[in-house]
Amino acid sequence: MLENEIKDFWQTHPCGAELVGDLTDETIDEYEHFFERYDRYRYTKEPHILDQLDRMDLKGKRVLEIGIGQGADAEQIELRGGIYSGVDLTDEAVKRVKTRFAIKARKSWERVEQASALDLPFDDSSFDLVYSFGVLHHIPEIRHAQAEIARVLRAEGRLYVMLYAKRSLNYMLSISIARRLGLLAMYLLGIKGEGIYAAHLGNARPLGIMQYLRMSNFIHVSTDGPHNPYSKVYSHSDVERDFPDFEIVSVRKEFMHAPPLPVSWLPLARLLGWHLMVELTPRKKT
Ligand SMILES: C[S@@+](CC[C@H](N)C(=O)[O-])C[C@H]1O[C@@H](n2cnc3c(N)ncnc32)[C@H](O)[C@@H]1O
Repeated sequence: MLENEIKDFWQTHPCGAELVGDLTDETIDEYEHFFERYDRYRYTKEPHILDQLDRMDLKGKRVLEIGIGQGADAEQIELRGGIYSGVDLTDEAVKRVKTRFAIKARKSWERVEQASALDLPFDDSSFDLVYSFGVLHHIPEIRHAQAEIARVLRAEGRLYVMLYAKRSLNYMLSISIARRLGLLAMYLLGIKGEGIYAAHLGNARPLGIMQYLRMSNFIHVSTDGPHNPYSKVYSHSDVERDFPDFEIVSVRKEFMHAPPLPVSWLPLARLLGWHLMVELTPRKKT
């Protein structure tokens, strides 16, 4: 898969913007209001992100974030005393994060740049900590990315990632069964639908519905919208396989999320949550 296709998608669909209403212009006022509603929405819906940042020992540490999105977590890392650098595949994310730091007058950051996880523009052993939330499962060459991360991390450093969880209600019930059956029924009954349903049925037309709904295809279009080019889900053993330069320190699941099923009230996040929160450390070289 071409990295350019993935880059075009994120450049034109800045992460999570459609959930709160994207920027309508580039005035300071508009940015301020956007960041406020984006952060409120993010941390109300996914409070485990702040819990995760609180668990990390950030004060005075050199931190690299990969896949910076709207910069909400960048600001939180900086507020907790991390000396922040961040990269993203898209110019749009870089512009938003630099604007955020400027508006909020945050000073404790070093570099925010357009770059790929596959070719990090940093020297070996530059960081104490690398953080990447909801990003690495969108990179087909993830083993190459993890090798780059191992290179820029100090030997005793830590990598914190959120990957989509395979043993989750979202993957096992919503994506694999409910959404596929729903789309098949709409297709067979000739219902056109609206919004994402209409987009899925439009995508399915050139491929044929059965081909479109094969899990090897459907997973990509079922996590971050019907136009997302690439996604993957992870179990504990998949993490071991795709992060050969790391040892796993801890794994836990968070976030009851399985749209369109109303599951957020279920107390089952640790068992069937959608976010696999993984802490890793570079494997000792022998
Ligand atoms: C789902 S968003 C997550 C953004 C942010 N971490 C968050 O939680 O909102 C994925 C982000 O990763 C970036 N991305 C995708 N592939 C990348 C790569 N190879 N290197 C760096 N960033 C990448 C995208 O441009 C996008 O901003």
